[in-house]
Parts: sequence; C-alpha cells; structure tokens
Amino acid sequence: MTTASGAPVGDNQNSMTAGQRGPTLIQDVHFLEKMAHFDRERIPERVVHAKGAGAFGYFEVTNDEISKYTKADFLSEKGKRTEMFARFSTVAGELGSADTERDPRGFALKFYTDEGNYDLVGNNTPVFFVRDAIKFPDFIHTQKRNPRTGLKDKDAVWDFWSLSPESLHQITYLHGDRGIPATFRHMNGYGSHTYKWVNDQGEAFWITYSFISDQGVKGLDVDVADELAGKQPDYHREDLYNAIENGDYPSWTLYVQIIPYEDYKTYKWDIFDVTKTVSKKDYPRIEVGKMVLNRNPENHFADVEQSALSPANLVPGIETSPDKMLQGRLFSYSDTQRYRLGVNHQQIPVNRPKVEVNHYQRDGYMAVNGNGGGRPVYEPNSIDGPVEDPASKSTSFELEGVADSVAYDSEDHYTQPGDLYRLMSEDEKSRLVKNFADHMRQVTRDDIKLRQIEHFYKADPEWGERVAEELGLSVPESIKTV
Ligand code: HEM
Repeated sequence: MTTASGAPVGDNQNSMTAGQRGPTLIQDVHFLEKMAHFDRERIPERVVHAKGAGAFGYFEVTNDEISKYTKADFLSEKGKRTEMFARFSTVAGELGSADTERDPRGFALKFYTDEGNYDLVGNNTPVFFVRDAIKFPDFIHTQKRNPRTGLKDKDAVWDFWSLSPESLHQITYLHGDRGIPATFRHMNGYGSHTYKWVNDQGEAFWITYSFISDQGVKGLDVDVADELAGKQPDYHREDLYNAIENGDYPSWTLYVQIIPYEDYKTYKWDIFDVTKTVSKKDYPRIEVGKMVLNRNPENHFADVEQSALSPANLVPGIETSPDKMLQGRLFSYSDTQRYRLGVNHQQIPVNRPKVEVNHYQRDGYMAVNGNGGGRPVYEPNSIDGPVEDPASKSTSFELEGVADSVAYDSEDHYTQPGDLYRLMSEDEKSRLVKNFADHMRQVTRDDIKLRQIEHFYKADPEWGERVAEELGLSVPESIKTV
C-alpha cells in the first residue's frame, strides 16, 4: 500500500496522535491525504440520465452495400469490426434512483473508429417530447423535483405536457409497454433524429438509425416494476452486468432508413422534427451490422461515470441535420462535460480516441496526454504542424427564409400518436389507458387533466373518452364539436 505519491504507508489503522489518547497530529500526511481525497470523491451527476449502466463490445458490419451511402470508414466493408462502449440509462431519476421507473431509456454508443470517436446518443423510443432545444431545460425541470417541496411534481409534468401537444407522440410510447423495459437487453435503440450520410462521391442522404434488440423487446408488468423499485433498485444494471459476466452477450442489429436527399422538401412529414417518425413503408429499413456487448467495465466510476458521450462527436461521412433539437444538443453535451468532468475529459481512457489526436488546444485542468509536447501551438505555421484535411469538410446545406424565432410548420400533433394508438391490440390499449389514468390521477387540478384529455381525444376520440372515464371525468362538449 502506498500514498498517492507512491510512498509506502506505515499504518492505515491508527492515525498518528500525541500520546495514546490523541489529539491527532497534522504531520500524519497519509491521514490528511486519505481524508482530503475522500472529501472530494463526488463529482456532479449528469444533469439528466444520471443513473445508468455501461459495457464494452464491438460493432461488425454485415452489409457490403452500406459504403454506397456513407464514406464513414468503420462502415466501409462487410466484416469490419470497431470497438465500442455503450451506456444505457433512465432520464429523470438521480444517480441512486430505481431502474424500473417509467421513463425513456438512454441508448448511448461510442464507436472507437479509425477516424476518431463517433458517438450516437439515442433513446429506446424513436421520437422525443419537444422539438426545439430551447424547450429542453423547461421540460426537464418538470421531470425533476419541485423547488419548494423537493418532491416529484405530477402537476408540473402534466401542465407542461398538456401545454406542449408535440409531446403526445412520445408520451404514448412512454405509457405503453416500452415505458418500462424488462431489461436493458430487451429494448431497441433509436437515433431518433434524422442524420446526414455522405458517400465518397459527395452524395448526401438523410438517414435514421434503429438498433433492434436480438433478445426481443419486452416490457415489465407495472406491479412487478414497482416492487423491484423497492427491493432491487439496481435491477437493470445488475441484469446487464450478470448477463455479460455469464457469457450471455446481448446484441442488437442496426438498420437504417435511407431518405433521398431532395425528399426532405416534399415528404409528408418534416423529417427534421424529432416528434415525428418516418414511415418504414416509405423508406424501408436496410441492415447495416451487429453490435455485441461482451465486456464489463473494470471500474464503474472510471468507465461509466466518466464516460462522455456527445452528439457532437462525428466522423467524416456522418453529419448533422437542421433538426432544432439536434442542433441544441451539439452544444449541450460537450458543454456539460466540460463542467462535469473538465475541459480535458476526452483524455480520460474511456473517452480517449484510439487514433492519434492532433490539434492546437493546450493546457487546462488535467492535461494528462503529454499536452502536445514541443509541437507548435498555432496554425497556420511553417514548422510542419498538423493541417486540416479538406476531404473531411462537412457538405453544404442550402437555406431559405429569414433569420427569426420561427415555429415548426406542422401543428399536426395528433395523426401519428392516433395511428400508434389504433395499431395497439385491445390489451395494449387497456394498459395504455390505465397507465395514463394512474399517472394523471395524481394531478391535483382538473383543468390540467381536461387539457390533456383533449389531446387524446383529438388523436382518437375513443382514447380521450376512455382516459376521461377512468379519471371519473367527461370529455367536454366543447372539445367534441371542434
Ligand atoms: C444525456 C442534454 C435531448 C439522449 C444528456 C446530458 C445532457 C443532455 C446535458 C448529460 C450529458 C453528460 O453529462 O454527459 C440534452 C438536450 C436535449 C437532449 C439539451 C435537447 C435539446 C435528447 C434526445 C435524446 C437524448 C432527443 C435521444 C434521442 C440522451 C442520452 C443521454 C443524455 C442517452 C445519456 C448519455 C450517457 O449515457 O452518458 N442530455 N438532451 N437526449 N441524453 Fe440528452
């Protein structure tokens, strides 16, 4: 045993004292260091997605045709394998919260490619609650605790949702069977946003990602989930760890939908609106490859807590889209990670790219990678410093309109959730209606409940009527005649 400076420790059981009964001496530097380090053990938890589990594995391409659509090197040929890290999480709960809460699940992936790290930070649902990043902090405040009581606040949750009808699609997924996955292994992952792929000819395509669980998709019964929340709050983390430890490696098959570039102008839905899905009938899924998780982290804090996944970590051939949520996320993740982990968080082993890193950023807290050694610190320079590669430049995107705070075009928040409801079996519908009613029963104000019922009704009158009945309310006539 040594101190952090590497010197042998003489006694780790008894502090150094003046005589047998104390007081403790300040010259016991081992004691001082041990206590001081302990005092600083906690770092900020993630502002969202605080509770999660992570594992390492690989991604293998299974389709030779994918390089037609992207020049991303890690997707270039069938059989190509890339090391990965994955972290699954709940959204709203704190670091110690129960895994079996009703909540979307994070599905965050880091591919350590030969062209740098590519992160795909998605969820287990294909849509989201809001579609402009400016609404995200407000939305999350409703999911966290009431500032006065320190308690979860159902009035805030439903006040916000009922005033933000674009949330209807996502809350339908959330209150259905996917709202509490059986395990992290039994859920799909979606990129949710539309991204842009570019091939080596410079041709661009819009794409969506779906990771379909090879274990199948399964939900947990609400009563079982409630019981587990009390008895085994780390149930999902434990399940993933044990499965991998037992050699039962979970895997997912990745599919993409390829949307021809020009179609964004005419498709019936705005493909940059994350509250909408793109139909599989219009753009069928194409298989890309398989992701397998086969190694547990050696140390949870080092690899899972310190992991920093960001939609801004892109590689040539994969680009962003104009989606207003995605644009906000490009800033938010790396920004919070500079606060949560420090400005040099990409040097932490789990985040460190497997390729040489060459830039002109220097210094800052915890610069542990040699800090560029004696290499030049400015560019342009005539002393052989690293230079840009024009082939990696993002493609252009034509614009029209005026710069302003502009709302999305489509106010149709009802067709897609209504279709989702109508696709459900009678059993699924009953569970959905019951889940909504059980959740909304905790709201203290009827005006909030009625406003939300109006949205259900507009998506499908039967749905509105059923939730209203469960809550002992009636759908107002004024809504029915609209
Ligand atoms: C985590 C912001 C929307 C999926 C986070 C974190 C922030 C954040 C600040 C914490 C990151 C960290 O501490 O490392 C936002 C903002 C959004 C947004 C501003 C909208 C404007 C979304 C959407 C998805 C998503 C649409 C899924 C499609 C995730 C996941 C994590 C996360 C999976 C956890 C990453 C991990 O495991 O470390 N988000 N988020 N977020 N977010 Fe978002």
